[in-house]
Amino acid sequence: MNIITPTADGSNTLYNEAIGEHYHSKHGALQESKHVFIDAGLKFSSAGKSEISVLEIGFGTGLNFILSYEYCTENSVKLDYTSIEAFPLTKEVIEQIGYQAYVPKKIWTSFIENYDGALKAEQNLSPLCDLEIPHNTLAEFTSTKKFDLIYYDAFSVQHQPEMWSDEIISHACSFLKPGGTFVTYAITGKLKRAVKANGFTIEKLPGAPGKREMLRAIKTEYR
Ligand SMILES: C[S@@+](CC[C@H](N)C(=O)[O-])C[C@H]1O[C@@H](n2cnc3c(N)ncnc32)[C@H](O)[C@@H]1O
Repeated sequence: MNIITPTADGSNTLYNEAIGEHYHSKHGALQESKHVFIDAGLKFSSAGKSEISVLEIGFGTGLNFILSYEYCTENSVKLDYTSIEAFPLTKEVIEQIGYQAYVPKKIWTSFIENYDGALKAEQNLSPLCDLEIPHNTLAEFTSTKKFDLIYYDAFSVQHQPEMWSDEIISHACSFLKPGGTFVTYAITGKLKRAVKANGFTIEKLPGAPGKREMLRAIKTEYR
């Protein structure tokens, strides 16, 4: 059961009772998504490019996606977005959270109308955006495609340790292109070592409110 819960910046999140965790930071869902994934990830990785491919781990409510779609549309960057989700929310739940307030109506409508279809196959939402949400676990996900940017947005290591094992981090990193970027809200010694072991150079950046630091890593060696 998921319960809609307000966060400190006024935006809502979901509380997942089974896992015992929120989908976003209690200090602000919207500000965390913008800080970690849009500002430190998408703006950095898409600078000077006309197209970008993003692989997200954990589609959830789609907040990271709609903000990415809006950013890319405003900046004329073609967005190819794939987001793995093991337990998709229903369209009705996503509509109740209230994120339609944060993006233009055209962006929201094309997302919500294509959500169910994107769980089955890639959908073309606009001339500048394709979306696919493979209904799968990260461990079972395979792809011949490589991506420019990974948003690693799993539940925390305290609540889902299997999503932060060296093996699963290495599996996720294998989908990134050489020179690609990996961002996540979390940063631990174990995570830094796991990412470095896959040929990445790591950066510690200031975290979103409520977290001192976050991780950005660049795939500098190709394996
Ligand atoms: C922190 S939430 C993601 C929030 C999301 N990015 C958003 O903007 O709402 C973690 C997500 O990972 C999903 N998840 C849990 N286990 C997973 C697995 N093994 N593989 C892929 N996704 C998983 C959960 O269902 C949940 O939607």
